[in-house]
Amino acid sequence: MNKKTIGVALLGCGNVGSGTFRVLTENAGIIAKRAGADVRVKAILVRDLCKDRDAGIPKDLLTDDFSAILDNPEIDIVAELMGGLEPAVSYMKQALQAGKHVVSANKAALARSGEELTKNAGAQGLMLRYEAAVCGAIPVMNAISTALAANEITGIRGILNGTTNYILTRMDEDNAPYAAVLKDAQDKGFAEADPTGDVEGHDAANKLTLLIAAGFGRYIRPDDIEREGITGVTEDDLRKAAAENAKIKLVATAVREKDGIRARVRPEFLPADHPLSSVRNEFNAVLISCNMADDIFLQGRGAGPLPTGSAVAGDILEIAACIARGTEKNALPTWRLQ
Ligand code: NAP
Ligand code: HSE
Repeated sequence: MNKKTIGVALLGCGNVGSGTFRVLTENAGIIAKRAGADVRVKAILVRDLCKDRDAGIPKDLLTDDFSAILDNPEIDIVAELMGGLEPAVSYMKQALQAGKHVVSANKAALARSGEELTKNAGAQGLMLRYEAAVCGAIPVMNAISTALAANEITGIRGILNGTTNYILTRMDEDNAPYAAVLKDAQDKGFAEADPTGDVEGHDAANKLTLLIAAGFGRYIRPDDIEREGITGVTEDDLRKAAAENAKIKLVATAVREKDGIRARVRPEFLPADHPLSSVRNEFNAVLISCNMADDIFLQGRGAGPLPTGSAVAGDILEIAACIARGTEKNALPTWRLQ
């Protein structure tokens, strides 16, 4: 008999966890109709049970005991929204071992352990989804791994980090000082817990690793991607670009070449007619070049609680719909294994 209520545990109740909870509860009716089952949050894992939370978070769902989530037979899907490498990776592995499907927004963890987690999930007939890990609300992982899967992808080029795009936009348009706009990006919930990952380009490199694995079926470690962040971009550089009607953006590029994939993240000077030059604030955009579909341009909010929560909830809905129909064992992985 197929299940009519699908239980979810959220690991984390910060920017993304609280945004996901809001999407799942405020849109519960839409989600139930589309999934063919009620989707209910049964537990929310946090570090500190005494911390003040958004008013909408029910206190009785909060726990600091991960084993209670693993042992709860009513929990079908675990959404890892904590960040960091450990214990996030171990928790995802344990959730799969316990027979639970996994959703994650954690590009740092997935860029290092995504292949292993994908194999673990496949071996268990379980689903692993991570749309929210790349470009927030933009459905780029779905686009590459489903709708464009019949193409050979020849290039991926994009603005993959909301914090740095927000900083560069505000510095350029408002002459705002770097430190003040970084603080603003943190207050708005865009930045990583340690924003060095954003401003030095590590976050964009993690996301590029995930795009390359899905689009090219190749694994390039984030540390092997040529990388430069935005900390060397000066107000003078932005003024010079403006004088030429151009913009400076942190651009991630992966190109298929005869001898392999060339990948890099670096600030680039983009002329006004380049599609990425008009992408402002925390918005992200990705240009995907395909051998049959030609160029595809996707744009949307790349960070923040609700845009990211929307992507997490979309993955949860997809898995819930598969569970409700008994088709989860047939789902294709997002990470293209060789
Ligand atoms: P955050 O605001 O710092 O929230 C992290 C949450 O995880 C907090 O609730 C924290 O508990 C909990 N947590 C952390 N370590 C834990 C542990 N060992 N055990 C139990 N709970 C733990 O982070 P965030 O901005 O939501 O980001 C979460 C993840 O989503 C990261 O991987 C990030 O890269 C990714 N992401 C973020 C965005 C965004 O726009 N912010 C977008 C896409 C993806 P306490 O509240 O008790 O401290
Ligand atoms: N810190 C990330 C960003 C969050 O600014 O893009 C979204 O992945």
